[in-house]
Parts: sequence; C-alpha cells; structure tokens
Amino acid sequence: MKLATDYLGLKLKNPLMVGASPFCDNIDAASRLEDAGASAIVMRSLFEEQIDYEQRALSFLLETPSESFAEATSYFPGYSEYQLTPDHYLRQLGLLKSTLRIPVIASLNGCRPGGWTDYARRLEQAGADAIELNLYQLVTDPCASGLEVEESMRATVRDVVSTVKIPVTVKLSAFHTAPAQFALSLEQAGAKGVVLFNRFYQPDFNLEDLEVEPHLRLSDPAELLLRLRWLAVLSPHLRGSLACSGGVHNREDAIKALLAGAHTVQLVSVLLKQGPKVLTILLEGLRQWMTEHDYSDVGELRGALNLRRCPDPAAHERANYIRILQSWRV
Ligand SMILES: Cc1cc2nc3c(=O)[nH]c(=O)nc-3n(C[C@H](O)[C@H](O)[C@H](O)COP(=O)(O)O)c2cc1C
Repeated sequence: MKLATDYLGLKLKNPLMVGASPFCDNIDAASRLEDAGASAIVMRSLFEEQIDYEQRALSFLLETPSESFAEATSYFPGYSEYQLTPDHYLRQLGLLKSTLRIPVIASLNGCRPGGWTDYARRLEQAGADAIELNLYQLVTDPCASGLEVEESMRATVRDVVSTVKIPVTVKLSAFHTAPAQFALSLEQAGAKGVVLFNRFYQPDFNLEDLEVEPHLRLSDPAELLLRLRWLAVLSPHLRGSLACSGGVHNREDAIKALLAGAHTVQLVSVLLKQGPKVLTILLEGLRQWMTEHDYSDVGELRGALNLRRCPDPAAHERANYIRILQSWRV
C-alpha cells in the first residue's frame, strides 16, 4: 500500500505530519513523534515582532533612544517571554535537522512586508526543508480595506519567496471575502502551497473581574468542517500543495481531509491530548480503511470528494445552505 505523498516538492512517507506547535522545542518529543510515524514536523512560529524587536533593539542601542519604541512594543510579550529567541530558534532547527530524518519546516509568523522577512534566509541556511508563513492578522482598523490588507499579505509572501530557494507555504485564515481567489493569488506570488486554516484564539470575558481573558482551547472535530469545505473548493484549482490544519482527531477526520483534497493532514491538539502513539493508531486506521475500500495508493483518494465535477460550486453551496435551513420543522 502506498502512503507516500508529495508535499511542497518534499517526499513524505505518509500524509500525517505534525503542525506548528511546541513539540519541536524538545528534541526527545520530536523524535518520539517521528518514531510514531510523523512524516514531517513544523516548528512553532518565530514572530515578525520578535525579529523586529531584535533588529530595533540593536538600532536603539546604536542610535537615539525613543519613547515611542517602548510604547509601540508594550502590548507584546517581552523579549524573554518568547519560548525561543531568534538565535535559539536557529540552533534548535540545526539540532532537529541533525537528529531527525523527516523534513523539518520552520514557521515565520507575520503579515506585513519588512526587514524581518530576511530571516527566512537564515532559516534556510540553518537547514529548514521549507518555510510555513503564517499570515495571522485580525484587522480592526475600520479604514483598512480587504484589498489593502490582502495586497500587504501578498507583498509579504513575495518577499519571503524571493529570499529563499526552499519552498514556502502560507497558513491562511478562512475569513477572507473570497478565500479561493486569495489563495490562487498567493500561488501566483510564488507560494508552493497553502495551509487551511489558522484558528483564531478568541478571548472571553471574565464576569467577576470584568476583564478580557485570553485562553487557548484545543480543537475538536467540529472545526474540521470549515476546512473540508474550502479544501473541496480549492483543490481543483490550486497547482500546489494543500495541508489541512484544524480539527483532525481520528482516522475518519484524516480520511475526510484527504478526500476533500488535502495532500497532508497536520495534527496538534490530538497529539497534545493523546501523545505520539495516536499517530501510529491513525496510520493503521488509514491503511485499514484503504484496504476495506480498495485503495492501494493514498493519491487515489485525494480530492475524490472535491468540487471538481461540480459545474457550479457556488450554486451547489447556496442550494445546500437553503436545503439545510428548510430541513427544520417545529
Ligand atoms: C499550544 C499550541 C501552540 C501553537 N503554536 C503555533 C505556532 O507557533 N504557529 C502556528 O502557526 N500555529 C500554532 N498553533 C496552531 C496549530 O499549528 C494548528 O493550526 C491548530 O492547533 C489547529 O490544529 P489542531 O486542531 O490539530 O490543533 C499552535 C497550537 C497549539 C495548540
């Protein structure tokens, strides 16, 4: 049975990889995931703000001190609060590369063009097999248009892509007006793939303290549905690689993501909850399902349920929406 998968031009032994998360902070944890069957691993993100901070701190020391620098950075974690400093990140990447046999993907997190994108070259020099660029941004400026925001993101992608020879993939939010068009435009900007989707960590209100409480809730399988829809829409149109990130917790979830058109399935929450052994269980489950359904190559199921054969996907989606609302009777 063939589970080998091409992802961003990398040859992966199967479609199950570890998504961006703290696992790579610990070489033993990363090795255990490799031993359990992970086909690739993404490091946690290095943030635009961290790299900028370092670059600005240097000019702060060399040039004139400025009050606005302190103010502008006061919302962000202090330099020492990040788990990995930029230098530490490069060293950790080197260690991972010398220990693991599977591809190691570095993650840069930022959405505006700037000097920080040069850091991609250092990640490449440290041995990264690819870069995942996470464009996470919550646009709160009522004067910023979608077009402006997306143009700035595209410019960021172009900057990173032109800095390195290794493949660059882009982790997106689902909340663009026209996600399909935006994803295609990123491919034209040089991205070799997209990762669907970022999760938004939505803060809650604490009614006792009347404060805003940020919290990180791990995902559940309900989050997969949004990914399935957009994988199915995008997979007939993108030439590059599609990764599904969000809500994959069991073998059925992983199979659905592949049927919708994903080349790879990224796992985080399920690994944090159940540990590396779940990877072995998921891979065994995938093999078993493929045998039961007469598939001998994972490539044959990829995209089998996408919207390629649907003559009018927009009408199909709208019709389903209407049908679902009409299905309730009281
Ligand atoms: C503890 C934790 C840390 C994460 N760190 C990052 C990160 O640094 N960069 C990033 O792009 N995504 C990060 N993510 C998001 C995951 O890569 C993934 O997109 C998300 O958890 C959805 O996948 P899941 O349902 O398998 O958890 C993190 C998630 C968790 C739970």
